[in-house]
Amino acid sequence: MSNSDFTPRDTFGSKFGIIAAAAGSAVGLGNIWKFPYVAGQNGGGAFLIVYLLFIIAIGLPVMMSEFSIGRRAQRNAIGSFKKLAPGSPWYLVGVMGVAAAFLILSFYSAVAGWTLEYISKSVTNAFAGKNESELNLMFGNFISGTWRPLFWQLLFMIFTVWIVMAGIKKGIEKYTKVLMPLLVVIIIILCIRSLTLPGAGEGLAFLFRPDFSKLTTDAVLGALGQAFFSLSLGMGTLITYGSYIGKQYNLSGTVIQVSATDTIIAIMAGIAIFPAVFAFGIDPAEGPGLVFITLPNIFQQMPGGYFFALVFFVLLAVAALTSSISVLEVVVAYFVEELHISRKRATMIAALMISVLGVFCTLSFGVMSEVTIFGLGFFNLMDFTASNLLLPLGGLFIVLFVGWVLGAERSRNEISNQGTLRVGYFPVFMFLVKFIAPFAITLVFIYGLGLLRL
Ligand code: TRP
Repeated sequence: MSNSDFTPRDTFGSKFGIIAAAAGSAVGLGNIWKFPYVAGQNGGGAFLIVYLLFIIAIGLPVMMSEFSIGRRAQRNAIGSFKKLAPGSPWYLVGVMGVAAAFLILSFYSAVAGWTLEYISKSVTNAFAGKNESELNLMFGNFISGTWRPLFWQLLFMIFTVWIVMAGIKKGIEKYTKVLMPLLVVIIIILCIRSLTLPGAGEGLAFLFRPDFSKLTTDAVLGALGQAFFSLSLGMGTLITYGSYIGKQYNLSGTVIQVSATDTIIAIMAGIAIFPAVFAFGIDPAEGPGLVFITLPNIFQQMPGGYFFALVFFVLLAVAALTSSISVLEVVVAYFVEELHISRKRATMIAALMISVLGVFCTLSFGVMSEVTIFGLGFFNLMDFTASNLLLPLGGLFIVLFVGWVLGAERSRNEISNQGTLRVGYFPVFMFLVKFIAPFAITLVFIYGLGLLRL
């Protein structure tokens, strides 16, 4: 029996610390690796518009709901529901979130491992003089291997474990504060280089000129999944982080700043990638390798490319790390508070279980590429199940919970810091969580899963 129930909870140390940690969670491979490739596969501009609509109508209310639940309950993703709605099945929403954390980190760590490999390739100047097809082959050869991708994936898991073990203030907050702003600077430089390549206009048109004839129901479901994934919503990451936010801080300000930062970085990643994709004749629907093939191409075309490549991949790995710790933290906070396992041991057990799943994700590009379930390889299956199913479903229940169970009075109380902040937007928020967001998520689900055909 541990005494964790009696020790005061760890909290974030400052307002900037909260934003850095939450934005650190949101900004990650989802923005730089996933957004461009999913947008590329789904036709570009029209996907972007639907994605932005989902961020505003669904993402913002879900994020506000998660923070409110967590801060009010002062518990982990599962414990929060148990505390706020005792004796009800609502805690199952948290259970689903913890399950989603396992799936997400299993494939996330695989891709994060790729960034480590690309750091090492940058160090050895491996991209120099290679053309598009050689870089493509280089990527393909690497991910279809066995030991190399596994080695990097496990190393990345070790970094994640190391930070999560250190706890909130000394671990998560310390690292995010410094490194995130640096990443933004590098992306801006990449945007400039990409935009000045010959033929850049075509890439911009692809990203910003919507062609709604390309918008399939799959693309709409994909946009919803991407909105959830990118903002770290739907599985209790932000419930958990919300529980570390002091009662004196303004939640709505945090929501706006985190969502805006996340969205701007995703769009900037798109601006860095697509002009180059078209300039180099890369297929925008290339898939998960898109950034790993396109960016080395850009680095080669710029002065100081060796240096920029190295710094970029280091920062991308760090961005992945500040996200992966927030995924692992969901599981660890649950293990510690509900199962009374020590933080150290909880972190190890969770990471070990996730790594086992992770091995299958990595091998699904190589020796296990023939193995498919519902027509998807293991990596894609984990991603699809978590991002397009579990996260939106979790988000649906989270807004319903705030709208109909926690209710207007308690929600207003939490959001307004016990009535000390003015919350003129509150009726709009309530309307969104009670009706609009649940309706929109349900509709996208029904069509996206093909339960009904347009
Ligand atoms: N949002 C992160 C990214 O864009 C990934 C992530 C972190 C996440 N925590 C999450 C995704 C919780 C879903 C749920 O890379």
